Amino acid sequence: MPTLAITGATGVVGSTAARHLAAAGRTARLIVRDAARTVDLPGFDIATFPGTHGPALRAALSGIDTAFMVSAYEDDNRLLLHQDFVDAAVRCGVRQIVYLSFVGAADDAVCVYARDHGATETYLNDSGLDVTILRSNLYAETLVDLVHEDQIRAPAADGRIAAVARADVGAAVGAVLADPKTHVGQTYELSGPDALSLDDVATLLEPVIGVPIAYTPQSDEQARQQKRDHCAPDEVLDAWLSAYVAIRHGIHGHVTDDVRHLTGRAPTPAAQALAHWQE
Ligand SMILES: NC(=O)c1ccc[n+]([C@@H]2O[C@H](COP(=O)([O-])OP(=O)(O)OC[C@H]3O[C@@H](n4cnc5c(N)ncnc54)[C@H](OP(=O)(O)O)[C@@H]3O)[C@@H](O)[C@H]2O)c1
Repeated sequence: MPTLAITGATGVVGSTAARHLAAAGRTARLIVRDAARTVDLPGFDIATFPGTHGPALRAALSGIDTAFMVSAYEDDNRLLLHQDFVDAAVRCGVRQIVYLSFVGAADDAVCVYARDHGATETYLNDSGLDVTILRSNLYAETLVDLVHEDQIRAPAADGRIAAVARADVGAAVGAVLADPKTHVGQTYELSGPDALSLDDVATLLEPVIGVPIAYTPQSDEQARQQKRDHCAPDEVLDAWLSAYVAIRHGIHGHVTDDVRHLTGRAPTPAAQALAHWQE
């Protein structure tokens, strides 16, 4: 019976972590919402749960010593879902949780999206469980989402993004799970090899999108007005704006050596991650 569990194994990070574990000769239980979409690896168990606390999650966690907890998709309930999972883990005798967090995570983070991560980290640290945190920078593959009508218009000034390849995040998670006890109490920050300005990002995206892309810095008010024109509600608008303010404040610009430290390989340049994403 596996004593490791991986959530999010229908996604890129969880499935990559599972493949790395399999390559290292290890097995795990994949805890997913839909067994039909998960990776099929020899010796791996699959347990399904509906996404919330309950008997199915408790059964999935029984006998597990260390669990990788993927962060849920952004949602008003995300923090509650995370807390439910931690509570279930404590009740089921899990000893260690490896959590996929986000750069800048804090209860009062500049970026609204990082606040659930901060609160989850606090909850984990107060739970009595052994904890390992991997804070991911923005995924390189999501940089394309910054472009609208062949332009990046954003209030990010000359802020930089040390975007990380999702495959590197999965490999780092796999490396931690292969020897979890040696990572208890650690917080890692997973970045790519370069802190990219948004001008750099525009240049990188040109071959991906196939047209010239330009970055035009905006003021907060210009950005707010532009979103308002698209009828975004104030709450959505504030959260969206805060992501750029975090970039402007340098929160995403920190290049670390943690991917190399954990995986033994140099982090993937964003251009390469984007080229793979296109394939
Ligand atoms: N750093 C960044 O730039 C960035 C960008 C986007 C997302 N993220 C976060 O990073 C996480 C993992 O990234 P990824 O690349 O592996 O994403 P992905 O390929 O979209 O996979 C996400 C995985 O998380 C699972 N999941 C999401 N919400 C869940 C919930 N409420 N309950 C149970 N399972 C849930 C999904 O399960 P299903 O298949 O059942 O939906 C899927 O297995 C995402 O879940 C998100 O929180 C980070």
